[in-house]
Amino acid sequence: MIEALEEYWIGHEPFYNEVDREVAMFEAAYALRLPLMLKGPTGCGKTRLVEHMAWKLDRPLVTVACNEDMTAADLVGRYLLDANGTTWHDGPLTMAVRHGAICYLDEVVETRQDTTVVIHPLTDARRQLPLDKKGELIQAHPDFQLVVSYNPGYQSHTKDLKQSTRQRFLALDFNYPPADLERRIVAHEAGIDSALAARLVTIGEQSRALVERGLEEGMSTRMLIHAGRLIRHGVDAVAACNLALVVPLSDEPDLQRALKNLVDAHF
Ligand SMILES: Nc1ncnc2c1ncn2[C@@H]1O[C@H](COP(=O)(O)OP(=O)(O)OP(=O)(O)O)[C@@H](O)[C@H]1O
Ligand SMILES: [Mg+2]
Repeated sequence: MIEALEEYWIGHEPFYNEVDREVAMFEAAYALRLPLMLKGPTGCGKTRLVEHMAWKLDRPLVTVACNEDMTAADLVGRYLLDANGTTWHDGPLTMAVRHGAICYLDEVVETRQDTTVVIHPLTDARRQLPLDKKGELIQAHPDFQLVVSYNPGYQSHTKDLKQSTRQRFLALDFNYPPADLERRIVAHEAGIDSALAARLVTIGEQSRALVERGLEEGMSTRMLIHAGRLIRHGVDAVAACNLALVVPLSDEPDLQRALKNLVDAHF
């Protein structure tokens, strides 16, 4: 075990229910060490797939939640002043590149373009990471892979990936799983029976149809699991659905009413 990454290994198998050959596609991408992009709405299984695959491929997983304030130094590292003077500290990306982890950049479109370009030499045939401040050029460990994710629904024109970034990646499209699979996932994750999971999944599907009526995004698998867990915990179904599904999803009174009606029709 690599000491530097000890805490990044995934000890037990994360449950993942495959939807459309994404496990095999991820394995192929990893076999060729090609960078991979996962696109899809919030709460539909992107992070869970990456965790599952890191476990399956027996690699540590270094995850970075990207945001617009993130600088290249936050990814690659920086000199910090300590008792011994200034010492270099590898950032999460550098750690993954050096030691052969899977590095997962979550919500990568949030990063500024001058930050994103640091991954360019890593994600083409060179597989190199230059640490300009340190004057070091790292050749990526043979087991290193870069995976990024984002939600195309949230994208504005100012926040888009440049073609020169996009075209370096393989990409998988994610969406909410089909009803029978989503029922199985919700039942498993919430620890509820399949009949109750089926009702939650139907509410979820119907909420997704409200996107045409102005709802920004429908209920995610994650939300349905929250509702199921509350019910299992002993909260009555209507209150659980309000708490987990209706109120979080929208601030619009009309939409909340429509969502509430959906719930009332099923419980
Ligand atoms: N295919 C699946 N197999 C197993 N669990 C799943 C699957 N899809 C979704 N889940 C469940 O839904 C939850 C939310 O999924 P996850 O955290 O992977 O979403 P995400 O797509 O990464 O969302 P975000 O974009 O908000 O980060 C997971 O914790 C897991 O319980
Ligand atoms: Mg995620």
